[in-house]
Amino acid sequence: MKKKILLIGSNSSLANQLSKIIDDKHSLLKLSRKDVDVVKNFEKLKKIIYTFRPNILINCIGLTKFIDCEENPEEAYLVNALYPINLANFIRNKKITLIHFSTEAVFQDGLKKMPTEKVLPNPSTIYGNSKLLADKAISKINNSLIIRLPMLVGPTQNHQIINKILKKLRNGQKVFVSNDVYSTPISTVDFSKFFLREIIQKRSFNKKKIIHICSKKRMSTYEVIKDIVKDKKILSNITPVSEDFFKSKFQRPKKLGLKSIYKNCNRTFIYE
Ligand SMILES: NC(=O)c1ccc[n+]([C@@H]2O[C@H](COP(=O)([O-])OP(=O)(O)OC[C@H]3O[C@@H](n4cnc5c(N)ncnc54)[C@H](OP(=O)(O)O)[C@@H]3O)[C@@H](O)[C@H]2O)c1
Repeated sequence: MKKKILLIGSNSSLANQLSKIIDDKHSLLKLSRKDVDVVKNFEKLKKIIYTFRPNILINCIGLTKFIDCEENPEEAYLVNALYPINLANFIRNKKITLIHFSTEAVFQDGLKKMPTEKVLPNPSTIYGNSKLLADKAISKINNSLIIRLPMLVGPTQNHQIINKILKKLRNGQKVFVSNDVYSTPISTVDFSKFFLREIIQKRSFNKKKIIHICSKKRMSTYEVIKDIVKDKKILSNITPVSEDFFKSKFQRPKKLGLKSIYKNCNRTFIYE
């Protein structure tokens, strides 16, 4: 059955991939910042929701770069915490399901075992902390599902590290790549198909509050790149280094990653 879906943050990298797969199957209304700034004009968003009356609301808005959040904590808390908390309060008791994305960054850095949905979060960054505040509020309402995600790799993830490195390599440039920053990366192509089938159509996780979707294997950024690039000549342009080599002002978590208690949420990472 066709559902009415409101995709908020439709210019986000993930939303671009999701909309490719949802677009012709459901009645999809896309909202970008051009349509409404959700922090400055939440009232306008409320009116759009009243008028469109969606069955499902997918929230892809976020201040998602770790460094942007450290440098601009106020915006991080407004976008990643206050706005989704307001959204959850607004749709509470309405016949709308809110699907919200969270992150591996809500967990402590360097955990030996990958955290499942049962592990208590303990973020070390403003990004992780701001996202966790939203997780706590959204999980209190009945009509919501939080999907925590690891590093995303895919054709629309252009502002992310993997695509930036691949672009340089394709241009014949030499690159330095971290061999000690870990995640359990997933392909957004695989994720989008899983999302449409299991979350939207079969509603397999309808009764759950929080799920993790991740790959089964923890991989460093260098290992992800090596998995994607097969050409030996291109590979010779890559030098693996410690993250400390990049001398960032802020310390990025090095060992993240997720695991799920739900078997089919533990995916195999295949670059598509
Ligand atoms: N990417 C990852 O690897 C990853 C991993 C784990 C979880 N997640 C989560 O997945 C979700 C989507 O991530 P993403 O990487 O697709 O995000 P993204 O590409 O960084 O896009 C975020 C979007 O939010 C919009 N936005 C920010 N503030 C806004 C405001 N005040 N009003 C309206 N729009 C606003 C931005 O609009 P503009 O384009 O106009 O700036 C942008 O389109 C986020 O919740 C993120 O935390 C992502």
